[in-house]
Amino acid sequence: MDVTFVSTNRGKFREVADLLAPYGVNVRWSRRALPELQADRLETVARAKLAAVPASLPRVLVEDSGLFLDGLGGFPGVYSAPIHALWGFGPILELLARRPRGAAFRTVAALRWGRTTRLFHGEVRGRIARRPRGHHGFGFDPIFIPEGESRTFAQMTAEEKDAISHRGQALRRAGAWMRGRTGSAGPA
Ligand code: IMP
Repeated sequence: MDVTFVSTNRGKFREVADLLAPYGVNVRWSRRALPELQADRLETVARAKLAAVPASLPRVLVEDSGLFLDGLGGFPGVYSAPIHALWGFGPILELLARRPRGAAFRTVAALRWGRTTRLFHGEVRGRIARRPRGHHGFGFDPIFIPEGESRTFAQMTAEEKDAISHRGQALRRAGAWMRGRTGSAGPA
């Protein structure tokens, strides 16, 4: 079965395609920007993104995700994409120098499946590294150390990150739901 994933983010697309393959879902990439509603919840932004995709596409997946820093009251959260583009890592590392370093990555994946809309959530807790480490992944991966690990996401293979990440959790839930709709076998 085919699903169209709409996003400009190549890193997200790669992860989504890898995560859904074991469920027999083939992900097509529609590389275009969707309006990012100014809202304080990932769910609201994800629903708005989905609503902006023409109804002529029957099986559509979008997602909204972000890095929520304990020491900054959850910032940048829903503003993670523009903050990463504007700031990189430097100002975040400076701001956290004397604050708690706990953090969470969260994803809300929104799926349109015919007339049905479903949201799938994922969260991984961790802490912010003192300096960026590693070259894999994208976005804030070089400064995020998931709980129980000493390496950042950027020091892990794609498979290691997928096994524990916020996106991995959300997309495995989405994959299981889609598999349940078609009755096909999977994951392997
Ligand atoms: P949006 O979902 O398009 O609003 O973008 C979310 C932003 O959060 C991305 O541009 C990244 O900066 C950051 N982000 C979300 N998920 C990840 C991840 O898995 N690794 C690193 N950064 C992420």
